[in-house]
Amino acid sequence: MLIFAASDKGGTGRSVTGANLAYRRALAGDHVCYLDFDFGSPTAAAVFDVLDARAAAEDRGLHAYLAGEAGEPARIDVWARTEHPVLRDLPPGTGRLELFPGDLSGGEFAATGENLHRCVDLLLRLDGEYDLILVDLSAGRSYAVDMVLAATARPEMRAVVSRWLVFHRWTRQHVTAAAHLAFGPRGIVAGGVARGHDEDALRAGVRFVRSGVPDLESPLWSQVTPTQSAWMRRTDEDLRQLASVLGAGHRTVLGTVPLDPVLQWREQLITDEDVVVSQIANRETWEALGELAHRLTDDKCWEQA
Ligand SMILES: Nc1ncnc2c1ncn2[C@@H]1O[C@H](COP(=O)(O)OP(=O)(O)OP(=O)(O)O)[C@@H](O)[C@H]1O
Ligand SMILES: [Mg+2]
Repeated sequence: MLIFAASDKGGTGRSVTGANLAYRRALAGDHVCYLDFDFGSPTAAAVFDVLDARAAAEDRGLHAYLAGEAGEPARIDVWARTEHPVLRDLPPGTGRLELFPGDLSGGEFAATGENLHRCVDLLLRLDGEYDLILVDLSAGRSYAVDMVLAATARPEMRAVVSRWLVFHRWTRQHVTAAAHLAFGPRGIVAGGVARGHDEDALRAGVRFVRSGVPDLESPLWSQVTPTQSAWMRRTDEDLRQLASVLGAGHRTVLGTVPLDPVLQWREQLITDEDVVVSQIANRETWEALGELAHRLTDDKCWEQA
């Protein structure tokens, strides 16, 4: 199954949440790969703590592969190459977790017939090799989004299940931008239809992920004044209404990841050690990521929204 991680704006939690979802599915036993299709800023390797390995893969990354300069894109075995001590100590039954990095020196590029062909070929091959392929796409209605919409519209890819996650923060601008990216005139659904996708099928495969959302019941917010608390509750309700009016209401939301102190400070995988032993991360974050990871393949969550 292909999971495309998109967002209209930058800084939405797309990479950090996406990497954590890949990690959690691998921990649960799936073979997972993470493709860094953020062509303008391919920095997902930092989240997996594999920066050295990524530097070694320079000129053999996804940019080089798609441009036809490398026959096969580099893959980094995260479990073997991560510098994160907890990640090297794997529980039995863990699945493979592999990162396909972009080239450090790569940039955005428009799809041509040739690189589109290589993209289709790669996605088809990986679909046979992995249970889950998570693709982190450049923000906005980017070349990366166009490329995978075109790739997945090809007849040879029809049998591969693809789902879209549209990430956004919990603010007016983010909610509006995410809804437009999904359903607006130049959005994912419209762009997909223009490339031959069936509108209803594509629409049914799009869900929103709200990330970095303040949980007003959490002790993190217990120090605010009653006036601030009342304002935050009103604003939270306003945002829910706005999301609903724009077609990004709760029935279209796959999950919400609360604002977490660790992720606020550092882009990383949250391990159970962070929750149970050092206790630097919130249990709610761990649980929300686990639930979201589960829902990626839970068909009940993907029935018509
Ligand atoms: N649940 C969260 N709580 C607090 N901070 C978060 C949360 N999720 C992500 N962040 C932080 O927000 C910032 C942006 O996240 P991330 O880099 O994943 O977003 P992105 O959408 O991939 O951005 P870009 O467009 O730059 O690639 C990071 O510093 C990250 O650690
Ligand atoms: Mg990112």
